[in-house]
Amino acid sequence: HGTSRINEQGHLEIGGCDTVKLAEQYGTPLYMVDEAHIRNRMRQFVDAFEQTCLSYQVAYASKAFSTLAMCRIVDEEGLLLDVVSDGELYTALQAGFPPERIYFHGNNKTLAELDMALAAGVGLFVVDNFTELTRLDRMATEQESKARILLRTTPGVEAHTHDYIQTGQEDSKFGFDYQSGQVIEAVQYALSSSGLELLGFHCHIGSQIFETEGFSLAIGKMADLCKECLESLGFQTTILNLGGGFGIRYNDQDQPLPVSNYVQAIEDGVRKGFQGREIPEIWVEPGRSIVGEAGTTLYTVGTMKEVPGVRKYIAVDGGMNDNPRTALYQASYEAMLANRGAEPPTETVSIAGKLCESGDMLIWDATLPNVKDGDLLAVSCTGAYNYSMSNNYNRVRRPAVVFLYEGKSDLVVRRESLLDLLQNDQLPDRLKKGQA
Ligand code: LLP
Repeated sequence: HGTSRINEQGHLEIGGCDTVKLAEQYGTPLYMVDEAHIRNRMRQFVDAFEQTCLSYQVAYASKAFSTLAMCRIVDEEGLLLDVVSDGELYTALQAGFPPERIYFHGNNKTLAELDMALAAGVGLFVVDNFTELTRLDRMATEQESKARILLRTTPGVEAHTHDYIQTGQEDSKFGFDYQSGQVIEAVQYALSSSGLELLGFHCHIGSQIFETEGFSLAIGKMADLCKECLESLGFQTTILNLGGGFGIRYNDQDQPLPVSNYVQAIEDGVRKGFQGREIPEIWVEPGRSIVGEAGTTLYTVGTMKEVPGVRKYIAVDGGMNDNPRTALYQASYEAMLANRGAEPPTETVSIAGKLCESGDMLIWDATLPNVKDGDLLAVSCTGAYNYSMSNNYNRVRRPAVVFLYEGKSDLVVRRESLLDLLQNDQLPDRLKKGQA
């Protein structure tokens, strides 16, 4: 479904655009996003659900990558939008995303965020804990409105993924505990509240998941919960949101399933879990699997250092400020030379960033043709949790983002300027030069 290839000049081409020309036009580092790829992934989820007997909604988790242009694509493709902060909500609203198709996640939504979301008329809130439950009830009641909610639940399922990104296990900061009966207590509260309309439940078992077993287990638990709520409280679940977490391929070690396999497993699990009972509308909220493989970061190679007999370091003009995932999660990426794409690999090198920290590495042991100063290095699969986790460490400026589509490139986030870095700085009078 990707639209990248090596063209006649031996250059990497994405979405019909020559990346060597993109480097000249926009500079590097540059986040390049293959728009057709994103749209295809969204359609794969929708098409897969269309093949099932389920009523469903596919949402996009904007934490993976959120910009005005991205929100427009999500809207055009008819997905829902999951936001987790006032910033993501603001981005969506400014993009003209219909508020009723937005829903608000997060374990510590502030009063100001809840206010903003209520005023905007977001479709629903995924309530995470008792503090928020009572807060939201009080706020909605004061406004004589009702907030539509799902209750986030930790089903006690541990997905096989990195510790920091698994979330469904019991000892987690997220959600109402299932085992101890907290979630039932929350249901009772919501049902007797004046400001809340309970529609169902949410769970999310982790991220970058390659098998279907975790989803099946979680669905089983959630189906039990729905049954218990129906039998003991007369509450019929309308919506069951199963979160995101579908894995993608960063390198050969990663073997994600096709989207349709995950969706098939969800259908099987739901049919089994809800046997003979009414099946709620099933929601999923993928982030990474929508945008991850669509993104490629383009860097210019600068300096090199060889530690004799040990390793050759190649430094590029970006690093852990535009992609902190290697340092943070030991994530592993693949790279190629965008200006010499047809040449076979001849050496193993490690790709370092330009930031002042030894951990600032993008790739350990990449195989590439003999790399030279000025080469363009393309790191693939950087569409998710790269731009969205980028930062200004070392006062390095965030790269620009371009969308590539049918041979055209559009700047969707301009490169930060040096002035941008000082935008929020204030100099107290007593520190002004020459004022002492
Ligand atoms: N829903 C909820 C409630 C989530 O917490 C997440 C991700 C998603 C959906 C989307 O998950 P995805 O489909 O993207 O796996 N920064 C980490 C990933 C953190 C994921 C946090 N929650 C990384 O770079 O790997």
